[in-house]
Amino acid sequence: MKLAIAGVGNNISALIQGIAYYGMLDAEALPGVARPVLGGIAVTDIETVAVFDLAPNKVGKKLSDAMFAEPNNYPKLETPGPASDPEVTFGIADPTDRSQIDAVAQVLRDSGAEVFLYSLPTGLPELAAAYGRAAVDAGVAVVNCTPDPIAGLPALFAEAREKNIPMVGDDLQSHIGSSIVHGTVLSLLEERGITLTGSYQLNIGGNADFKNLREHGGNKEASKHRALRQKVGNTDSVTVIPSAGFVAHLHDRKIAHMSVEGRGWAGMPVRLEISLQVQDSSNAAGVIIDLIRIAAIAARRGEGGFPVAATQLLKSPQMLTEWHEQVPSGRAALSALAADHA
Ligand code: NAD
Ligand code: NA
Repeated sequence: MKLAIAGVGNNISALIQGIAYYGMLDAEALPGVARPVLGGIAVTDIETVAVFDLAPNKVGKKLSDAMFAEPNNYPKLETPGPASDPEVTFGIADPTDRSQIDAVAQVLRDSGAEVFLYSLPTGLPELAAAYGRAAVDAGVAVVNCTPDPIAGLPALFAEAREKNIPMVGDDLQSHIGSSIVHGTVLSLLEERGITLTGSYQLNIGGNADFKNLREHGGNKEASKHRALRQKVGNTDSVTVIPSAGFVAHLHDRKIAHMSVEGRGWAGMPVRLEISLQVQDSSNAAGVIIDLIRIAAIAARRGEGGFPVAATQLLKSPQMLTEWHEQVPSGRAALSALAADHA
């Protein structure tokens, strides 16, 4: 499966090293992988054919070098280099410059990429739109890791659907992140009839994404609320702080502290305190591997627009129906793809 990437940050280091890691293991047993084969594509079937970045210490380098360039700080694993190792090309710096968009579209066409993965820092919506434009011009399926809208751009989305180009977005939902854990606990209270009186979620970490989210957390916060609303109807009494602090020595580890308070029988208090500690960018890569395969399968089948199988893997999926109708059909579609070993 031929993949193009914009933004060689920690997520890509985790993705590329992880694929090499699984390449060293018995294909039947892949610890930490939900679906070893999805739509007939194995985890190790991914071939990177084009890579874009702007950082002077990444452009012009092989992907296998660029993914360790600062400020990337995902751990360096004892794995062989990637089988396909393209050089990082200069991407889009000025989203108003049509020639830069055209140049990226041309690289995408020449590379034979089936899927374009957008993995820039959050808070650059004009760049997200410009890269989305380039991918649609090139006829390449899009996966958007970030809360800056691409699938959420109505005109671009409609054009992609018209041209049978899949659009998987927006904002990936981490493998086992604060959204799914927090949402699950909130829905448990709701199901048991405990009245929620207040809840918060604080995330801290020491990577470039955390540093950036300190200033550009707006889209992220709204997106995290949408993720919680896949689980519970109302999040009015829930406070979400995407980046509560940059703690350098944590590197790419993330700590989420969640607090949930409610009232039970006779108004008596109930309280939960949960601490979740994860490798932040493994948490992204473990879901990116499914999103890019879902996009590739949809593209191969000529199905444009939003593939419903991606619903529960995103924080802000493009809803075809109301969320409570789409989540079960999304789950069924994902199971069907995982069972398809053809
Ligand atoms: P990162 O900051 O490590 O990497 C971003 C990369 O994009 C860097 O290499 C940077 O040089 C590059 N870049 C910046 N401007 C560019 C441009 N104009 N063109 C091409 N490249 C450019 O971030 P990351 O940890 O890899 O995360 C990527 C995105 O995924 C972020 O927006 C993050 O918020 C989002 N996300 C991450 C997680 C997770 O890690 N668990 C979960 C959900 C969403
Ligand atoms: Na990350």
